[in-house]
Amino acid sequence: MPILTIKNSGKTHDAAPGTLLIDAILAAGEDIELKCNREAKCDSCHLFVLEGKKSLTKMTPAENARLDAMVGVGSKSRLACQCSLGEENVTVELLGALSG
Ligand code: FES
Repeated sequence: MPILTIKNSGKTHDAAPGTLLIDAILAAGEDIELKCNREAKCDSCHLFVLEGKKSLTKMTPAENARLDAMVGVGSKSRLACQCSLGEENVTVELLGALSG
């Protein structure tokens, strides 16, 4: 079972492979308002994947298009509402929820 670690708070959560990353983050106890309701249309769930990026599901066209339109995006960026956990542990740094 992959372990999700949230760098900002130090919270961790054991999640089953296939769990949507945002669901694992919420289950870990983070309180994030998802402005677009998981439709890849906002930046609430934007984060950097510091560890385990390759184990996440591939980027969808919708996620790719949204990231292209955002500022502050890097090679570690993902939208947590658009990818799911694989078998490996993942460490993330939350960005969207903290930057407003
Ligand atoms: S919740 Fe809006 S892009 Fe993920």
